[in-house]
Amino acid sequence: MAPIADNQNDLFPNLERVLYTSADIDSRVQELGAQISADYAGQDLVLISILKGGIMFLADLMRSISTPHAFDLIGASSYKGGTSTSGKVIITKDVTLDLRGRSVLVVEDILDTGHTLSVVLELLKIQNPMRLDVCCLLNKNCSRAYNIPLRYTGFEIPDEFVVGYGLDYNEHYRNLSCIGVLKPEVYGG
Ligand code: IMP
Ligand code: MG
Repeated sequence: MAPIADNQNDLFPNLERVLYTSADIDSRVQELGAQISADYAGQDLVLISILKGGIMFLADLMRSISTPHAFDLIGASSYKGGTSTSGKVIITKDVTLDLRGRSVLVVEDILDTGHTLSVVLELLKIQNPMRLDVCCLLNKNCSRAYNIPLRYTGFEIPDEFVVGYGLDYNEHYRNLSCIGVLKPEVYGG
């Protein structure tokens, strides 16, 4: 198994395996940031992250982008605390920036069924941004009924429940600096 930060050993026993170490994540985020900087040069870029899982990725990605940009946050929740989606997406916080005519890039932690993102994208579209795309750190390998404008992907992952680097199980594990697969016995899987 890949190494984990020493100060996170209490969380470690609940991981079945580490998928990406913090060094793996860091180098991929740097690559994504360089690509986004080149692609959006000269554009009025706004990054929008989805609370809460996307904030670590957003914070690191912003610092890897060398071109000027703004950011905003939207609150959306579809998980009621378990490991399978509830199907219903609740918007808990709207964006505050004016997005009309701007290049909007939604920064999301993980794309699973796409249900959450499809609701968020519909809401953002109402503001008539010039372009609307998605950057996901993790893309789960699963069948998807939604057509998501996925422009950037950090990693393609298997259809398993993962935690860490912002991703939670019952609001825990978000502070893990790596991304790992949770032991099924932890969530009764
Ligand atoms: P979707 O609506 O099925 O695409 O689910 C998207 C949201 O569910 C993500 O933004 C996460 O908050 C959560 N989610 C999906 N898969 C996982 C996972 O493996 N671990 C933790 N959260 C997940
Ligand atoms: Mg999320």
